[in-house]
Amino acid sequence: MQESSRLYRDLTRVLISKQELQEAVAKLGKIISEDYKDKELVCVCILKGAVVFFTDLLRQIDLPMTIDFMAISSYGSSTKTSGVVRIIKDLDHDVLGKDVLVVEDIVDSGLTLSYIKQILDQRGARSVRLATLLDKPMRRRIALSVDYSCFLIPNEFVVGYGLDYAEKYRNLPEVGVLDPSIYTA
Ligand code: IMP
Ligand code: MG
Repeated sequence: MQESSRLYRDLTRVLISKQELQEAVAKLGKIISEDYKDKELVCVCILKGAVVFFTDLLRQIDLPMTIDFMAISSYGSSTKTSGVVRIIKDLDHDVLGKDVLVVEDIVDSGLTLSYIKQILDQRGARSVRLATLLDKPMRRRIALSVDYSCFLIPNEFVVGYGLDYAEKYRNLPEVGVLDPSIYTA
């Protein structure tokens, strides 16, 4: 994909390049492979934003595992969290006694992941850890400990590598800052 393509035109800049993404994902995959030796690893993808990160990360984890998917609503098409978190699609399998790694695209207020962690703990998972590609620590509204995070980013709205604005830009191969004129029009 060329930087002159239509998707790139709506960015003010590229924040994280393809190469930086690839390197960070490979590094995280190695760490997780070490940490989950001899565990019953279940990787849970939070749809839809984490899907690109998730599929890349899985292939860097050198362990037997199963995968599952969960969809949560919190945003609609705006760039601010509604504060309301709801399960749209639940896991297909039981997590009782499993070591669950929840994979998310970005932690912003922290409400989504803290809600998911609470549910999986209640369901009797043996452990629940959180992995995120991006973290905006300045925006946290709830205390949340994130176990694995690839990039800390400033308080700007980003898209690409799975992240969307109004369901668009997920297919952009890198992470970029969306031009605010796109959502303040
Ligand atoms: P939280 O519950 O506020 O932590 O929200 C996390 C969710 O908000 C993420 O899974 C994203 O879907 C969305 N989100 C937060 N910041 C951004 C951003 O900069 N770009 C795209 N989506 C975002
Ligand atoms: Mg999301």
